Amino acid sequence: MKIICCNNYAEMSCVGAGMVADVIKNKPDCVLGLATGSTPEGLYAELISMCDKGELDFSAVTTVNLDEYYPISPENEQSYRYFMNTKLFDHVNIDKANTYVPDGSAADAAAEAARYEAFVRGLGGADIQILGIGRNGHIAFNEPAEALHPATHVTALTADTIDANARFFASADEVPTKALTMGMGTILSAKKIIILANGKGKREAVKAMLAGTVSTSCPASFLNLHADVTLICDRDAYEG
Ligand code: F6R
Repeated sequence: MKIICCNNYAEMSCVGAGMVADVIKNKPDCVLGLATGSTPEGLYAELISMCDKGELDFSAVTTVNLDEYYPISPENEQSYRYFMNTKLFDHVNIDKANTYVPDGSAADAAAEAARYEAFVRGLGGADIQILGIGRNGHIAFNEPAEALHPATHVTALTADTIDANARFFASADEVPTKALTMGMGTILSAKKIIILANGKGKREAVKAMLAGTVSTSCPASFLNLHADVTLICDRDAYEG
């Protein structure tokens, strides 16, 4: 794994955006694998700024997101679809019809997971996948467990995650209890992967990912199996 240790969040976001921009410039009809969460927000803001300046063209780009709550309506402000619209898609010249997020409103979650997996595989995987990392080493909704799933699947949210996310919803009862998430194999099918991490809260997870072993107790450690992964982080997340 390559490591780029930046001075701060702004620099991390610029470096990440630069790598995504290079992929778009080299292949205008590329497939971008996208993540939600607070970590990539600065990267998305940089991409918007490049697009505003006419340096970047999203008109032929396709995007696939890692995950979505289930059940949830795409109009719900807590949905990952809503996040992507407001943090990126509404501000660049992308055709929204080419932006894909697992459908949290599908009647049959397992069928939706299978459909999404086939769809992403049919695209040939992402040309570049952007990832964040959970404090416990999760990537997408692949939480530490005895076994991990290779393909897109339905997963139950842990009680901790439901508690942590309750603040965003009107009440804890409204927090979805499940999620649709790409599996480890879906993520690893990307041609290039960048994983972003900032802040002291991510230090232990980054350390476990870089420990040199692959373990289901740290799903991000599976990225060591991929030939083209770059960790882009700040000093707080990297230095002990
Ligand atoms: C988001 C996702 C999650 C986050 C992770 C870090 O689509 O799949 O795995 O990347 O939970 O979240 P933040 O960036 O909010 O610290």
